[in-house]
Amino acid sequence: MKVVGILSSPRGKKSNTLKLMDAALQGAAEAEAEVEAIDIAKLKIKYCIACDSCHEKGECTIKDDFNLVMGKLLAADGIILSSPNYITNVTAQLKTLFDRSPLMVHEQLFEGKYGFSLTTAGSREVDFVLDIMNNYMKICGGNTIGGVGCAMSQGPSALEAAIEKSREMGKDLVKSINEKRQYPEQEAAQKTWRERFKYVLLANKDHWTHNCDYWMEKGWIQK
Ligand SMILES: Cc1cc2nc3c(=O)[nH]c(=O)nc-3n(C[C@H](O)[C@H](O)[C@H](O)COP(=O)(O)O)c2cc1C
Repeated sequence: MKVVGILSSPRGKKSNTLKLMDAALQGAAEAEAEVEAIDIAKLKIKYCIACDSCHEKGECTIKDDFNLVMGKLLAADGIILSSPNYITNVTAQLKTLFDRSPLMVHEQLFEGKYGFSLTTAGSREVDFVLDIMNNYMKICGGNTIGGVGCAMSQGPSALEAAIEKSREMGKDLVKSINEKRQYPEQEAAQKTWRERFKYVLLANKDHWTHNCDYWMEKGWIQK
């Protein structure tokens, strides 16, 4: 079993959020997952240019590090997303990765994967940022088991508690994968989305050819 953690703070080894990720991956490793951290702030990931070629060809044709990172996420069973709070949002680095993912959304390519999110903030708005990351996981077809956030203004004991919670959530991620945990609300939302998105897909069937073939293979639309 493979668990991949995405780091997106530009602060490298000084990152507060890295402390949560280190603990989360340690927890997953203690539960016997193979783990890998990818720091996307050190990679070259360009903006999405809305060329639509991913929907036609089934892959992003921009030449940079995106396909390498996404390949690792697609091969993983578990995904841990992380970002510091930047203006009540994720970092531009992580948002850029999200914006490059319309193929993952259209084809629900995180189906069967489990994940959770980690954030640190200077003072507040921890849950809002966790929701942004967990929503990405869900709109790509995956399940989220939760998140851990820490407002640094609450002091060292709050950080210690968040580190411990991250370690436990890393272990629980492995458990959720092993037991194929069910999240009926998340599944129902994904089913409703597919029922609505079908019409968008059919309206674009002449150029979203890869998407349409994929949906037919999955039995989500008929010929
Ligand atoms: C550009 C920027 C924007 C930030 N915006 C917020 C914010 O809106 N709310 C907040 O509570 N903290 C904010 N912070 C503080 C960081 O979220 C906080 O220091 C965090 O722990 C940094 O994580 P890192 O060390 O992993 O990069 C901001 C920091 C930076 C550099």
